[in-house]
Amino acid sequence: MSTISRILSGKDGVGKSTVTALVGEQLALMGKKVLLIEFENGLRCLDLFVGAMATKVYDLDDVLNGRCEFSDAIAVSSISENLSVIFATSARRQLDTDQFSTLVLALSDSYDHIIIDTDCSDESIDCLSGIAMNSIVISTSDPSGTRDARYVCDRLYSRNVPGVKVLFNRVRKDYIADKITPNLDYAMDTVGVPLAGVVPELPDIVRCTSRGIAPKSNSMTQKIFKSIASRLDGESVPLTVI
Ligand SMILES: Nc1ncnc2c1ncn2[C@@H]1O[C@H](COP(=O)(O)OP(=O)(O)OP(=O)(O)O)[C@@H](O)[C@H]1O
Ligand SMILES: [Mg+2]
Repeated sequence: MSTISRILSGKDGVGKSTVTALVGEQLALMGKKVLLIEFENGLRCLDLFVGAMATKVYDLDDVLNGRCEFSDAIAVSSISENLSVIFATSARRQLDTDQFSTLVLALSDSYDHIIIDTDCSDESIDCLSGIAMNSIVISTSDPSGTRDARYVCDRLYSRNVPGVKVLFNRVRKDYIADKITPNLDYAMDTVGVPLAGVVPELPDIVRCTSRGIAPKSNSMTQKIFKSIASRLDGESVPLTVI
């Protein structure tokens, strides 16, 4: 049975897909069998982020609508043969949430980890609430980001969802030092859930995802995402906080 994790956020564009890709890569490089699913309609990027672009014709919409077997839509990343991905459809179509949760459960015997990059609509939240063991809310650490993250966490708690954590992304130490944004303790208090990780704003992250490559061994990017991935895998390792 897989550890099923979902990555979601209050605001768009805060780094859900980036975190999904980089955590998935580190788990795969640790020897775990990992499947990433981009549960979106209309927009895709995980294929690019993990170096699997144009390797499959079929996408999630094709699987859910029976146009192919799920194996036909599972692409393997060039980063690791342990890392697979099902692409989001590039068509703007409503995906069937019941069929989606059935698919995730059907695949869960074949992977150590399934990580789902998803929006925060009620339908998406509901369909994964019974099956996701971890729900990681990605947020920036500024007040409007943390307020939206708190709102999503409240919606998860109202559904008795386990394993809700926040990951602060694109954090700028200089902004905190200059008191442009509040410090991380304040940000954590606002969101009110345990910390899954802190990721700084790093050009290296954009370099890796733009090229579909893994961070260099022992780079700051690799250390940060390895510690987040290890904790998701149940290891007790300290968070690499900036
Ligand atoms: N820690 C980071 N440092 C620098 N750039 C980052 C970082 N995290 C994400 N980005 C950049 O921010 C942009 C948005 O990231 P991403 O696509 O992962 O967000 P998203 O939450 O998945 O967006 P959407 O809501 O559209 O799905 C991308 O250009 C990405 O390269
Ligand atoms: Mg995304």
